[in-house]
Amino acid sequence: MIELKDVRKSFDDLDVLKGISITINDGEIYGIIGQSGAGKSTLLRCINGLESYQSGSITVDGTLVSQKDKNTLRHLQKNMGMIFQNFNLLERLDVYENVALPMKFWGIKTNTPEARKKIESLISLVGLSDKLHARPSELSGGQKQRVAIARALVLDPKIILCDEATSALDPSITREILSLLQQINEQMGITIIVVTHQMEVVKQICQRVSFLKDGTVLAEGKPEDLFIHPIREVKEFLQEESGLLPTKGTNIQLFFTDKSSDPVITMMARELNIDFSICWGKLEDFRSNVYGSLVINVNDEDTKKVCDYLDKEKVNWEVLK
Ligand SMILES: Nc1ncnc2c1ncn2[C@@H]1O[C@H](COP(=O)(O)OP(=O)(O)OP(=O)(O)O)[C@@H](O)[C@H]1O
Ligand SMILES: [Mg+2]
Repeated sequence: MIELKDVRKSFDDLDVLKGISITINDGEIYGIIGQSGAGKSTLLRCINGLESYQSGSITVDGTLVSQKDKNTLRHLQKNMGMIFQNFNLLERLDVYENVALPMKFWGIKTNTPEARKKIESLISLVGLSDKLHARPSELSGGQKQRVAIARALVLDPKIILCDEATSALDPSITREILSLLQQINEQMGITIIVVTHQMEVVKQICQRVSFLKDGTVLAEGKPEDLFIHPIREVKEFLQEESGLLPTKGTNIQLFFTDKSSDPVITMMARELNIDFSICWGKLEDFRSNVYGSLVINVNDEDTKKVCDYLDKEKVNWEVLK
């Protein structure tokens, strides 16, 4: 378990993290999302001890992450693999040697049969068995990230930290890399923290997410809870617009979860014997569950009836101003 309690960090007089408290459970895929400059990378670097923090505490399975105790920190870092946006591969080394590099760094022999077996099986896990001796310059962006993932796994970490790991990749390659991370999480039980500004990443793989703004966690929860019915700051971040809505009558937005299967809209029209227009709607996939929202426009005199009906049917709703 990774526990952050009131973590504060500043660079000179710039306060970057202003009291962050979050708990990340073992085996979880946890997202940290927010605009550029929100403090996401700094937070991640504090978790793996690359950056110090001024106050509060960060513990990993009860051990304090602190730059004061270098020996403990090194062991903590060994348990945390890291993946970056720009892959950080060494051009003079081939795929095999790049994956083996952390072992070399830790003084582990890389030419024993066990080491070979391990490195080759990781390269096979990420689907690059036919590129064992290719150089990074001979690989596509997605393939480079696969090498970086294999390298992050080579010391058997319990945690993988990803900083914008898919930001340089196109949408279909992004989906493939995310599936691979999901597979690693499920099969190896590795906890994964993903820092991203891409809502799609969070939607596809994260079980929980924190929304960071100006060094503060403004919202935390399941992605569907944060994004389907977002608070104002999240809405601004998503730059979501429900388009032009009618200026007459009342616009009501309805929120649907995967459990709301009843055809509420048509049932309501029949039961209340009213007419309304459907103005806007969307359906979204969250880890393969579909959630959605719909904006309807009703006559002002019907508003109360409609809202009472939606309450009775336990549909989440809000009147749009
Ligand atoms: N080493 C540093 N020295 C001084 N200021 C820094 C340093 N690293 C980060 N900052 C500042 O801290 C703030 C947060 O930076 P950080 O890199 O954590 O943001 P981010 O959320 O990861 O942004 P992005 O999405 O652009 O990667 C920024 O204002 C940045 O300029
Ligand atoms: Mg960053």
